[in-house]
Amino acid sequence: MNIIEDLNWRYATKRYTNKPLSEEQVNTILETIRLSATSLGLQPFEIYDIRSTELRTQLREAAYNQPQLTEASHVLVFAVWTEVTEAMVDEYLQFVASTRNRELAQLDGFRKSILSYLGNKETEDIIKWASNQAYIALGKAMAAAAQLRIDSTPMEGFNNQTVDELLGLKEKNLHAAVMLTLGYRDTENDPLAVAKKVRKPIHQIHRII
Ligand SMILES: Cc1cc2nc3c(=O)[nH]c(=O)nc-3n(C[C@H](O)[C@H](O)[C@H](O)COP(=O)(O)O)c2cc1C
Repeated sequence: MNIIEDLNWRYATKRYTNKPLSEEQVNTILETIRLSATSLGLQPFEIYDIRSTELRTQLREAAYNQPQLTEASHVLVFAVWTEVTEAMVDEYLQFVASTRNRELAQLDGFRKSILSYLGNKETEDIIKWASNQAYIALGKAMAAAAQLRIDSTPMEGFNNQTVDELLGLKEKNLHAAVMLTLGYRDTENDPLAVAKKVRKPIHQIHRII
């Protein structure tokens, strides 16, 4: 298997069978998310792994009745930070210092640059910045899933505010940015399982200057 075969194999799955993934498979995918690069290393998101059937049904309603939310083995919601406070930056710097065995004072310059970059941003801009990081991790998870022959669907077709309310995210200073469903394709009921991939030829998107 190589990466191009993997990426040709995957598609945004619309219908899933009820075959569950193992905890080990899910943990591997979560680990690719954890290892993803993020701006300043801040990892400004949390992953909500929705196991409650009732919540899944409510999420489906909030996602224009898309069946993946109730059919897939797993539903992961990327909940991104809506603010970056000095306390959050300090907690991160403590973590960096203890992990790398360094004095906190050595990270003073880093602290200043984080705060000057993020300290004055409006909520909307923090959400945008944090979402960018979440989407990079989402892409990693999708590629890893394909490599493991696990089907997935990236999903932003949902009402973000409703999902925030359902998961109680606002009071945690989080916001639902995007979701990822995981499981196994239902080839009998998903016409897209056999549909040809639609992609522009490379010459239309690659410019050498
Ligand atoms: C950020 C993002 C959000 C998406 N949201 C949805 C969604 O809500 N529902 C869905 O069925 N597909 C969703 N898709 C899947 C795209 O429609 C799909 O990736 C695209 O048509 C290309 O097809 P392929 O991924 O099957 O090759 C989303 C894709 C991305 C990257």
